[in-house]
Amino acid sequence: MAQLAVVGAGYVGLVTAACLAKLGHRVICVEVDESRLNGLAAGEPPISEPGLAELVREQLRHGSLRFTGDYAGVAESEFIFIAVPTPSREDGSADTSHVLHAVNSLIPHVRPATVIVVKSTVPVGTTDRLAAMPPLLEARIEVVSNPEFLRQGTAVHDFLQPDRVVIGASSPDAAARVARLYSSIEAPIVAVDTRSAELAKYTANALLAARVSFMNEISHIAAAVDANVDDVARIVGMDRRIGPAFLRAGLGWGGSCFPKDVLALAAVANSNGCRTPILQAVYETNELQREHAAKLLLDAVRTIPGPIVAILGLAFKPNTDDVRGSPALGIAQHLLAEGVIVRAHDPFALVNASRVLPDVEYSEDAYSALDGADAILLATEWEEYYDLDWILVRESMRGKTVVDGRNALNGVLLTDLGFRYWSFGRATQSNGNGTGPHEGPMDSSPLGGATHTNGNGAVPREDGFASALDFRGAVAE
Ligand code: UGA
Repeated sequence: MAQLAVVGAGYVGLVTAACLAKLGHRVICVEVDESRLNGLAAGEPPISEPGLAELVREQLRHGSLRFTGDYAGVAESEFIFIAVPTPSREDGSADTSHVLHAVNSLIPHVRPATVIVVKSTVPVGTTDRLAAMPPLLEARIEVVSNPEFLRQGTAVHDFLQPDRVVIGASSPDAAARVARLYSSIEAPIVAVDTRSAELAKYTANALLAARVSFMNEISHIAAAVDANVDDVARIVGMDRRIGPAFLRAGLGWGGSCFPKDVLALAAVANSNGCRTPILQAVYETNELQREHAAKLLLDAVRTIPGPIVAILGLAFKPNTDDVRGSPALGIAQHLLAEGVIVRAHDPFALVNASRVLPDVEYSEDAYSALDGADAILLATEWEEYYDLDWILVRESMRGKTVVDGRNALNGVLLTDLGFRYWSFGRATQSNGNGTGPHEGPMDSSPLGGATHTNGNGAVPREDGFASALDFRGAVAE
């Protein structure tokens, strides 16, 4: 059992603190936000993550987990985990000022030979730069990189049952000390140098994002040649060299990590003289998905006075209330700018979404959001949307367009019910009149055409990663 501190009780920090306490360590978590701190002391986490509230309460009761607003609380700790945000700067690079501030704040309190463990996702070289700070050198304090690979929605599980634990250290002793903290976890420990650990974190996220963007590009080809991208994904995913995960086509990736990390990796590369055409394409392909969905919806409602689009799902993925980087919000923002009335439902994320986009008409009931709508966008594949009574929906709508942004619905069924159904690269697209996939009013903008324009008739941008429609504008960091 070790005495640990975790700085930051955000998404990563809180999961780390609670799980390290669960592993048998005594953990003090430093959180400077007072209202967050008060909630945590009462066992109320500020974020919604399955199993986390229960775990925090259990460890608080047990006395293994404590919270404080004072950096002096780290004084007794043998290891101090830094888990503070590294948001995107204007130019896409990661802003490490919170990390620096945290380290500077704990320096007066830290005891000699403590190990500082960097959990935050930081640009390559940051761990070494921290280690070279004179006060840390003088106190023989080592700084180690220990990136996280937690997914929102399964973060507690991912922490306690990881695929691997990565430790980037410049001394075998520091690596071994950090490794011992995880000794009760059954997972390979991968000890490498600090820079490889830092780069591995970015590479993992960028590669997962790349798989999705790649399949999204394939979805346009599938639409153009009347193939089904879901079947293509299933087939290629059965190849053990490829595997089935992260091949689902649709609106693309969002969240607090992929967009930020793809940009930050490119920024690190560029500042080190490396070109990143693949990362650029990964990012742009993702933006095109949103632009394309927005265009499909606008085409469907363009001639209607006072057009209404209803969006089902606002969270960036199901089972979270997080709307950061959510495709739904980016599309909603664009539709609003085009004069469309946007209604939206989400089982969990209404409050967070309304803080970012107050002009959307939010509804706590999916059917009320859909009532009288001209078109629907399914943006997040929440379980409950599979079970909607689509006959009722069809009767209550003014129009009949459904854009299935997650390839989640039964397109054949919806077409039979009279909907004009659009998905991303599935052969079930229809105009709702029983005609083929590329006939009817949508003929001029089949999904397959989307990779070469930005969906608004504008040419693709050439100046780095800034989007023609800045969908990142709706992201709440
Ligand atoms: C991601 C990584 O999966 C974690 O390993 C990592 O630790 C985390 O970022 C982070 O850096 O903190 P997360 O952001 O929770 O986790 O979300 P994912 O489950 O990876 O999904 C990312 C996005 O990709 C979602 O918007 C999802 O809808 C989309 N996605 C995923 C697809 O569009 N298609 C797929 O096939 C899979």
